[in-house]
Amino acid sequence: MKVSIDSLAEIARYYDDLMSHVNYDRWFTVAVEIAALLPRGFCHLDAACGTCALLRKLRGLGWRSMGLDLSLAMLREGFRHAPAPTVFVADLRAVPVVSQFHYITCLFDSINFLTETADLRLAFRELARALRPDGILYFDVVTERMILDHFAGRRWTERSGKLTTTWESKFCRESGIIETRISVKNGPESVVRERVYPLSVIAEAVEAAGLHVVQAVDAETWQPIRRKTTRIDYVAVKGNPELFRERLAAKAERIRDLMQ
Ligand SMILES: C[S@@+](CC[C@H](N)C(=O)[O-])C[C@H]1O[C@@H](n2cnc3c(N)ncnc32)[C@H](O)[C@@H]1O
Repeated sequence: MKVSIDSLAEIARYYDDLMSHVNYDRWFTVAVEIAALLPRGFCHLDAACGTCALLRKLRGLGWRSMGLDLSLAMLREGFRHAPAPTVFVADLRAVPVVSQFHYITCLFDSINFLTETADLRLAFRELARALRPDGILYFDVVTERMILDHFAGRRWTERSGKLTTTWESKFCRESGIIETRISVKNGPESVVRERVYPLSVIAEAVEAAGLHVVQAVDAETWQPIRRKTTRIDYVAVKGNPELFRERLAAKAERIRDLMQ
């Protein structure tokens, strides 16, 4: 396991502004729909929760939720908003909890931040270990299509409010590694590395962790994955997938309707 330094330390304080265009409502809607399959009073973990944007919304529903993230700087931003979230600094590859959560979410590319296949496998093992025997994991990943359409080989400047941010992305198709240099207000550059994985590698890592994929769909529509899909939503379970598949199918239909 490679120990990473906090690549987001420099930009954490700007993160919420930089991501103000991001549609958190979609993740919120799906997370809530899936949660309807859980027992009352379930315990939830938002893994790699960042600045707690989604966590805050879910806790607003009265959920027993907590978050973890590797970046103290990102978590600290979460404390700017009341009520303070319950969070801890931890690595997806070493989650210090066993069999505690009914439900884990891990969203907005966080899985893509794991740039070694061994780390991907380790993270799924750790998330599986943190889940209760009948637990559910909802995570997403970006695809190569997302990188090719929006990032690879591009340099651009964005203005949001008072912030001017310069982005520069390089993509190595062979390794799947995308390296993005971000400079806010002409400040020091942060380098963020993500990796896009073949779907077979993700499926294999999930199964090897003792989880079973029961849904893998285009995240924007919850329709089947297609060539144009830029983000994939996965739902995986720790228990018997057959018991769950039918109930999720009904939910999936509702999610598709909500997304139209
Ligand atoms: C793109 S951000 C998404 C944050 C949050 N899920 C959201 O929706 O805003 C990715 C997050 O993954 C975290 N992260 C990356 N690698 C991690 C690791 N190995 N363990 C825990 N968190 C990690 C980063 O610190 C960052 O907060």
